[in-house]
Amino acid sequence: GRVAVLMGGSSSEREVSLDSGRNVLEALQSRGVDAHAVDGIPALVDALVHGRFDRVFNILHGGDGENGVLQGLLQGFEIPCTGSGVLGSALSMDKIRTKQVWISAGLPTPQFVRLAPGADLRAAALELGLPVFVKPSSEGSSVGVARVLAEADIDAAIEVARGYGGEMLMEQMVVGDELTVGVLGEVALPSIRIVPKGEWYDYNAKYIAEDTQYLCPGLEGENEAAIRTLALAAFRAAGCSGWGRIDVMRDRASGELLLLEVNTAPGMTSHSLVPKAARELGVSFEELCWRILEQTL
Ligand code: DAL
Ligand code: MG
Repeated sequence: GRVAVLMGGSSSEREVSLDSGRNVLEALQSRGVDAHAVDGIPALVDALVHGRFDRVFNILHGGDGENGVLQGLLQGFEIPCTGSGVLGSALSMDKIRTKQVWISAGLPTPQFVRLAPGADLRAAALELGLPVFVKPSSEGSSVGVARVLAEADIDAAIEVARGYGGEMLMEQMVVGDELTVGVLGEVALPSIRIVPKGEWYDYNAKYIAEDTQYLCPGLEGENEAAIRTLALAAFRAAGCSGWGRIDVMRDRASGELLLLEVNTAPGMTSHSLVPKAARELGVSFEELCWRILEQTL
């Protein structure tokens, strides 16, 4: 059947999605799949009304592509789609509620406060202890995220996050290593340890800088086994399926692993992490795209 590779859209991650999408499209076509690019949900709906596609490879990042809206729509059309369904997508796009679910499941995540409108920000920061990160709850690729080292920087950080319109959180900064674990089907891929040249793994370090280092597997022996087990548990607790990527911090002093978030349509750019982890297992980019699609057959 015909496959729509859904990319672009109108979220803050549009450009990243177009980059991912072009790679996925080319990979599927090279595997002989009758795949076609579709930019954004309105264009997809138009094509579906005319019966033009049998399934969707979703590589929209952020917004309605990753928050359950697309997933519900396609369920209504009875069109299979890659990745998580309505619940897993909606929950995972909301960092605050993902963390609440993890906490209730006994899974570790850095301490945080939800920044309700009118909250006393200084009190929140004092409660957590600086440094902290201030994040929009429902953006991706570190868009709108600011690190706060000093009390004087709190207001500016909140202003940046507020620009995205949704809820915000303030999260304790973990001093240690930044790791990520891809999930493909029922399997956790080898972890990747990210070593950005700058202070943290921001948008620039993710997509623009060529000097970010990636170590895969990111940990050794028991520690590597532990992070994969934790990532799978976190993925399942968030109601996710198909494929995704869980971002994790490892506290340098205690060795403790702390979950940051789940990405249900992770990046597939040349800088992205799931393709690097798959390669470590001998799975090429083309094969990875095929395996993600295969789960909808
Ligand atoms: N949100 C970006 C695309 C990622 O998680 O890779
Ligand atoms: Mg994310």
